[in-house]
Amino acid sequence: MSQAFSPPERNVLYRVIERRRDVRAFKPEPIPDDVLQRILTAAHQAPSVGLMQPWDFIVIRDPVTRARIKQAFLRENQRATGNYADGRASLYMSLKLEGIEEAPINLCITCDRTRGGAHVLERNTILDTDLYSTCCAIHNLWLAARVEGVGVGWVSILTEADLRAALGIPPHVLPVAYLCLGYPREFLDEPELQQRGWARRLPLESVTHQERWPDEHIGTTD
Ligand SMILES: Cc1cc2nc3c(=O)[nH]c(=O)nc-3n(C[C@H](O)[C@H](O)[C@H](O)COP(=O)(O)O)c2cc1C
Repeated sequence: MSQAFSPPERNVLYRVIERRRDVRAFKPEPIPDDVLQRILTAAHQAPSVGLMQPWDFIVIRDPVTRARIKQAFLRENQRATGNYADGRASLYMSLKLEGIEEAPINLCITCDRTRGGAHVLERNTILDTDLYSTCCAIHNLWLAARVEGVGVGWVSILTEADLRAALGIPPHVLPVAYLCLGYPREFLDEPELQQRGWARRLPLESVTHQERWPDEHIGTTD
């Protein structure tokens, strides 16, 4: 007997994947506790190397902490602006790249690099598999939030040091993602960066190869 889900169930999953967006503009409505709980449960069901489950979820509501993180973002964003010239710099500055203070919840997802002891099953060769596992949890969370109508925005324009200091994260734990969660003003039909002309999704054919790395491969978005 087929283990596949029924066509309507499959369609829902593919639609959720297609309709997930990175969200930076939020309404002020709070996220009910049961909704947050379901989203975190989905994240916690992610695959992880040796069942290491290296993640922790720090739920941040305190406006004082969020104001501090926002200041850290503004500093780093200013620095990043210097990486672009002319029209690209002004387009960069016009992009909204965070919703730290307007989202009702911020969430820092960390990776405890020592969890499970020195020799976690399956993690003796590629030590970064704990980080990959944490990213799996983040993506589960992102998709679960989408079915709940909750928007998620990943803010990576923050230094590790700023996050450690603001959230008291110890040295053996790495902050992997800083996320803003809330009900979105809208879920766009396509990535905002594509809509604004910053980058575009590559054709699937250009990143799919048969048997080995191709002799000629242009891996840019230009
Ligand atoms: C690791 C990672 C870091 C990201 N950092 C930021 C960020 O700092 N600010 C931001 O606005 N979006 C950030 N994004 C969101 C991407 O810009 C977004 O996923 C991409 O443009 C595709 O759009 P979509 O997620 O709506 O499909 C990040 C996404 C990932 C996966």
